[in-house]
Amino acid sequence: MPSFRHLLPFFRPYRVNFMLTLLLVMGTAGINLWLVRLTAPLWDALTVHRDATMVAQTAIMMVSFFFVQAALSIWHLYLQAWISQHIVADVRRHVFQHLHGLSLNFFATRRTGELISRLMNDVGTIQVIATETPVDVAKHVVILCGATAFLIYMNWKLCVVIFFLLPLLALVGRLFGTRLKRLSLGIQDQTASLSVIVEEVVSNIRVVKSCVQGDFEQQRFSTVLSQVIALGLQRAMVLALFIPVITFLTFFAAAAVFFYGGSQVVRGTMTPGELFAFVLFAGILIGPAGSMARLFSKVKEAQGAMERVFGILAIQPEIVDTPGVSELPSIAGKIEVSNIYFSYQREQPILNGVSFVAYPGEVVAIVGPTGGGKSTLLNLLHRFYDPSQGAIFIDDRDIRTVGIEGLYRQIALVPQETMLFGGTIRDNIQYGNVSATDEQILEASEIADAHEFIQRSPDGYDTVVGEKGLTLSGGQRQRIAIARAIVKNPRMLLLDEATSSLDYESEMCVHKALFRVMAGRTVIVVAHRLTSIHHANRILVVDKGRITEEGTHNTLISHNGLYASLYVRGVAEREEVVQ
Ligand SMILES: Nc1ncnc2c1ncn2[C@@H]1O[C@H](COP(=O)(O)OP(=O)(O)O)[C@@H](O)[C@H]1O
Ligand SMILES: [Mg+2]
Repeated sequence: MPSFRHLLPFFRPYRVNFMLTLLLVMGTAGINLWLVRLTAPLWDALTVHRDATMVAQTAIMMVSFFFVQAALSIWHLYLQAWISQHIVADVRRHVFQHLHGLSLNFFATRRTGELISRLMNDVGTIQVIATETPVDVAKHVVILCGATAFLIYMNWKLCVVIFFLLPLLALVGRLFGTRLKRLSLGIQDQTASLSVIVEEVVSNIRVVKSCVQGDFEQQRFSTVLSQVIALGLQRAMVLALFIPVITFLTFFAAAAVFFYGGSQVVRGTMTPGELFAFVLFAGILIGPAGSMARLFSKVKEAQGAMERVFGILAIQPEIVDTPGVSELPSIAGKIEVSNIYFSYQREQPILNGVSFVAYPGEVVAIVGPTGGGKSTLLNLLHRFYDPSQGAIFIDDRDIRTVGIEGLYRQIALVPQETMLFGGTIRDNIQYGNVSATDEQILEASEIADAHEFIQRSPDGYDTVVGEKGLTLSGGQRQRIAIARAIVKNPRMLLLDEATSSLDYESEMCVHKALFRVMAGRTVIVVAHRLTSIHHANRILVVDKGRITEEGTHNTLISHNGLYASLYVRGVAEREEVVQ
């Protein structure tokens, strides 16, 4: 079982306590056996010898054994819980750390709900394997071996009867077990689909409502629910049959033992106490035999969960520091994009040979139709992805040859869609630079044209936003994201339609303030409204993964190509709005 090997490193820190737990549980099981063994002399003292002192002695011995057993059992149960809690927390910590280290491509192809389920449910299932299973196995092995040894020692002929019947019980248990497991797996799958639907609907609630797809989603949910019910009922039926069948077989076995053992007692080859203890031993043998089968299916289930969790851990981030990278010193901000090609999926080229240079102090605007590859280009500049051909140089260094974190620290990217973190507005701005002072935060907010609305918020900069907090408009979120980028004090600022939710006047105002603070550094701005960037030093028109036009506003207008037509349309729309 290869997946168990992956779990071993997580065991290592707790191995001493784990061994102790195993010893404790084996001790508990041993005492348990001995307690059962003591019923024989007790029963004989009562029925055959009728000796009150003997009865009292045996009873006192049993009670003291019982106390020791209880103490050991409390200890082992606590220790077991302690270990499994720690292991599960360690695995969760590890998976979470791995997760946010993975490259963007990974997140583009996964559903959020699925990842959450891995981290929460699947890792939770590992708890079973982490300690419950080994501890139970240790206990059962002691009981199985001990009880068998006692049985053989007490009366081997009677044992033969039992060993004919036990495999039958095990076989029946197995048959039911396989069926139950298959049904449980089906139920798990369907329940997972339910959470995916809920996740999709909740995160797209506006789309669901606006497209009036509530009924459709309800239908989708109900269909899966009926499957869950059908499978759940099948499982209930199997369970309902399972218990009487096993009970019948158990009683049958007990009757056989009493019949054959009873005749031995009558003949005097066995004492009544021995028969009594014998039946008890045979009884405790059935328990572990059944539990082992159940454990086996639990392990199978947990193994599936582990494979999924370790499957994620096995995925390597695509963007990593290659050996021998150098730290990127503070950059001036010259960007050179040299004939890059890129595709997310192999067959679909997104960028087809893009080249341009941006010098420190320049504002380069990128415009073009939706889907042309503008955001992709920014992702590559930030090195969220690497180009499949060509290279990107910053200050004449290939960005693949410098440390990623050092690079990321000097770039700020403001995406079009901004989700805020739970916490205050101040926390959200400070996210860009944890050591930013209150003055820096205030200054950044002013540049981002956010100070005014923040001040008007109930608690100013200490207003809690996001879930369970103040809900901000798209434009307000964008302003906070811009302030976050400014406190980072980047050498390179990438704005990806970062002001699209602002009105024209405040967009112009933010742009002006931004370009002022970024003076001497490099700004690449993907513009949503062409009218807001005509003062850019250079404008690149990106269409179908290529730069089709390049120049200043005036040269592009006189060129009378795609830019000119987009611009004219933009102006016309604005005039319509103004009128
Ligand atoms: N993560 C992704 N995986 C696959 N294709 C993507 C991904 N992101 C964007 N694309 C595709 O790349 C193309 C360019 O997208 P994008 O760079 O976002 O364009 P723009 O920002 O110019 O509107 C689009 O066809 C889009 O469908
Ligand atoms: Mg885009």
